[in-house]
Amino acid sequence: MLPLPVKRPRRLRGSDQLRGMVRETSLTPGDFIAPLFIVNGVEKAEPVESMPGIFRYSVDLALNEAGRLADLGVPGLILFGIPAYKDARGSSAWDSGEAVQSAVRAIKDKFPDMLVISDVCLCGYSDHGHCGLVAGEEILNDETLDLLAKTALSHVRAGADAVAPSDMMDGRVAAIRNVLDSEGFTDKLIISYAVKYASAYYGPFRDAAASAPRFGCRRTYQMDPANVREALREAWLDVEEAADMIMVKPALAYLDVIKAVRDEIYLPLLTYNVSGEYAMVKAAAERGWIEEEAVVLEHMLAMKRAGADLIVTYHAYDAARWLQQ
Ligand code: PBG
Ligand code: ZN
Repeated sequence: MLPLPVKRPRRLRGSDQLRGMVRETSLTPGDFIAPLFIVNGVEKAEPVESMPGIFRYSVDLALNEAGRLADLGVPGLILFGIPAYKDARGSSAWDSGEAVQSAVRAIKDKFPDMLVISDVCLCGYSDHGHCGLVAGEEILNDETLDLLAKTALSHVRAGADAVAPSDMMDGRVAAIRNVLDSEGFTDKLIISYAVKYASAYYGPFRDAAASAPRFGCRRTYQMDPANVREALREAWLDVEEAADMIMVKPALAYLDVIKAVRDEIYLPLLTYNVSGEYAMVKAAAERGWIEEEAVVLEHMLAMKRAGADLIVTYHAYDAARWLQQ
């Protein structure tokens, strides 16, 4: 006969009260940042087919959305623009009359406390759909940096609190910091997509933002999903270039990367729970195969447990609502 167990982890799981007292990780609406897609025009709410519950909003309706999120205690938004025109250089990206710049102005005007972050990249604004300038089949690094910095400058001039470069060109954080500082915007944050993988999970986003590359792929600039030491190298470079926060993207298939970056880097760490991760949950939930609320909150908990301080997620509104109930 085996002796009876003396050490019994179940003793700590006996009641809701006790489980609550020994819980190691918590979730609040303050953990979330909501992505918003912005189109030109008025009274537009165009559903994104591969992302049920997500819409491309014109500025007037984006304001309602920002208000709903603010009421639930969601502290930040990240804006993506769908521009009126595209060209080889992506010049609509730094056009002060475009969707993102207008949305930034309107949201900061109405909700000054909301942290408004703008995504900085060229893929949604260029006719070739790549994140940098293109020469033939090549994606040019150094020639792209000025354009990214110009874009970031136009966003902070509109009132953005933070810019988030997602292009994965080398040296872009330094280039953006330099331009912002020389124009007097020393207080504006750079939230760098420091560790961004060449992932198949971005599919629905590229539908939403019409930003799929017209040729080739993004593997010469986004990271190989096989690598984690490289993630630390990317993160350190952005620390040295004076990023204020860094991001790991995607989230769920990269929890080990979040943990590795958390252990080594002392900047606030975000993770981006991307469009494909959202779409999979919504599709299974629509079929009744999983319980949406429980699965979403379990995912959010996993990202925080791995070490993320903040989570960029399309579930932000729902998750905040469930947490408030
Ligand atoms: C643009 C950008 C992408 C995402 C954020 N910014 C797409 C890409 O790199 O192709 C992905 C977000 C998502 O899938 O939710 N550089
Ligand atoms: Zn891009």
